[in-house]
Amino acid sequence: MHRQVDIQKLLRAMTIEEKAGQLLQLATFFYLSETEGEITGPLSDLGIAEDEVWRSGSVLGINNAEEMIAIQKKYLENSKHKIPLLFMADIVHGYRTIFPIPLAIGCSWNLEGAKKSAQVAAKEAALSGVHVTFSPMVDLVRDPRWGRVMEATGEDPYLNSAFAKAFVEGYQGDMTGEYDIAACVKHFAGYGAAEAGREYNTVDMSDRTLREYYLPAYKAALDAGCRMVMTSFNTVHGVPATGNKYLMREILRDEWGFDGVVISDWGAVGELLQHGVAKDSKDVAQKAIEASVDIEMMTSHYVQSLKKLVEDGTVSETLIDESVLRILKLKQELGLFENPYKVANLQKAQEAFLCEEHREAAREIATKSMVLLKNEGILPLDKNKKIAIVGPLADSGDILGAWAWQGKPEEAITLKQGIECKVGAQNISVAMGCTIDGIETEGFKEAIKIAQEADVVILALGEKSSMCGEAASRAFIKLPGIQEEFAKTILALEKPTVTVLLNGRPLEITELSTLTPALLEAWFPGTEGGNAIADILFGDSIPSGRLSMSFPYTVGQIPVYYNCYNTGRPQPNEDAEGYFSRYLDIPNAPLYPFGYGLSYTEFNYDNFTLSQEVLHEGETIKASVCIKNVGNRVGTETVQFYIKDEVGSTVRPLKELKGFRQVTLQPQEEKTVTFEITEEMLKYHNIKSDYVAEKGSFIAMVGKNAVEVLSLNFELA
Ligand code: GLC
Repeated sequence: MHRQVDIQKLLRAMTIEEKAGQLLQLATFFYLSETEGEITGPLSDLGIAEDEVWRSGSVLGINNAEEMIAIQKKYLENSKHKIPLLFMADIVHGYRTIFPIPLAIGCSWNLEGAKKSAQVAAKEAALSGVHVTFSPMVDLVRDPRWGRVMEATGEDPYLNSAFAKAFVEGYQGDMTGEYDIAACVKHFAGYGAAEAGREYNTVDMSDRTLREYYLPAYKAALDAGCRMVMTSFNTVHGVPATGNKYLMREILRDEWGFDGVVISDWGAVGELLQHGVAKDSKDVAQKAIEASVDIEMMTSHYVQSLKKLVEDGTVSETLIDESVLRILKLKQELGLFENPYKVANLQKAQEAFLCEEHREAAREIATKSMVLLKNEGILPLDKNKKIAIVGPLADSGDILGAWAWQGKPEEAITLKQGIECKVGAQNISVAMGCTIDGIETEGFKEAIKIAQEADVVILALGEKSSMCGEAASRAFIKLPGIQEEFAKTILALEKPTVTVLLNGRPLEITELSTLTPALLEAWFPGTEGGNAIADILFGDSIPSGRLSMSFPYTVGQIPVYYNCYNTGRPQPNEDAEGYFSRYLDIPNAPLYPFGYGLSYTEFNYDNFTLSQEVLHEGETIKASVCIKNVGNRVGTETVQFYIKDEVGSTVRPLKELKGFRQVTLQPQEEKTVTFEITEEMLKYHNIKSDYVAEKGSFIAMVGKNAVEVLSLNFELA
């Protein structure tokens, strides 16, 4: 237990200016500048004087332990009350050892691996002076045009909730460990539903959709003890989240009982002006503090206007005190009053960065995140064959993805390096053929030549890391540049070829998927990417990834997701014409559905049974299925369990994921997997917005993805 400071007494000793200062968060450079001139510009942009910097409460974007120690020391020397700064940063999928992007981890369905990734990130971050990470991002995503789908775990509330819990537990531990850092769940709420996938665009949905699909994962993070919430840039029910009392006070604080720190996203408090819901700085500050936003990130309306609002009686100082106390409580819990430097130590951090244990953890979850989408007898590869690796990502370190700002591409294992590590360099030839987004074709010739001379071709295609992440929406989601033409040229050689995709979103790859005999979605796999890809390609690791986000047939089909409604005129089959909910020019089905992925073996599902067909109050139905590995290689199957409510007071999704289990089976081995159906599992926000289960008929389904399922009926009586 850390030395306790009487934070109530501390609060009573603070002036209103000092209280408002605790609510201000500035980027690191404000504290580091050597000369006045260097920060005058940004300070004047923010409308604050230098002394506000030394009254602020927290810092974002700290780069290393030495920087943190220097700032904290300088700050405390100037601080009247000796209240330490809180240091925060975006550690989203690793600190220096970069893990696969969260969308990839979402496709692993491996909660232990996700938790381990957060634990490793927390250790490297804590040693580097970070106290809070702006992670996990749990925004539900259905639109691959949005650049930040890479940061989410997918389109399903149940799976996203499971990962939210795993990440929070990984970062925070029990909050007493030397490397435990506070997590900050984001972006509350509904940021992933930006219209047309355009960054920062309007979000507008019914309260039911918000509560049924988008809110559960934030709640799961908070139920796991997440210490902080970050507001989102978007509107919710017509009001920007950052000034939204319904969302922040009624739901987050009153309904859910969250009494932790709420921080705005970068500039989001000030953006109430751009949204047009506030007329001036005082109005901005009033709306945000009344919505219980505690920390204002990188705008300064609190320090500019809260004192005036209190003096003119518009805002009670009690509101400000509550925010300051929440921040002081977090600083107390993190032990900052006892030791403002915690475990920050540059040398120990450098010893931890990229150490064998951390690289191994990154490699393991990367192999589990990759999704085998197609394999017509090509994989696994023979280690003695002549291999041509062609394509712009054949030997690229740009495989870390976005939000990997401490990671270094030069430290990443490229696809070529991974394969050379695995099989030696003697049988490998490499040619880029083209760039990621260029249109030059002169490189084709060399690539064609080495492909013709090889036994096997690996076609390495994808995106730049900068094509995903924040402010990186793409209206067209095909492979950028001339890559498709390049791929067709190589595939026309009719060599045994496997296409490996390194990208940050589901891409429109419909034509490519028909042409390539094998297709591996490797995502942005992180620092150990090349080794993980080689592990999968040569069968030293078995592909077990299952899509956590649908791949659209074309961008015109978006949004396409599995847990949709039936409509009044469902198309009975893909060929049915006439007055059905359908397109004239494409199928309704996505190219690859939620939950889809192949292995190097086959699994049979058989003997699906329910322990009873009627569920009475307080009872549980056991749903069991026998899984058998009927191939000749070991394999890991993710058994997925879905439920459909056949009749509701509102329409109900075609199916909803309610459980999953990963089983690893040797050839011919079989195992019975059991799920428990409870009344709690059947609850939803009904027509009266009550969260209840409604009596009636349900369908239980079990299967290898959201399409291939076995079904049985049961009733809730
Ligand atoms: C960004 C992002 C948010 C991040 C914050 C601090 O704008 O929206 O996810 O945590 O600013 O970098």
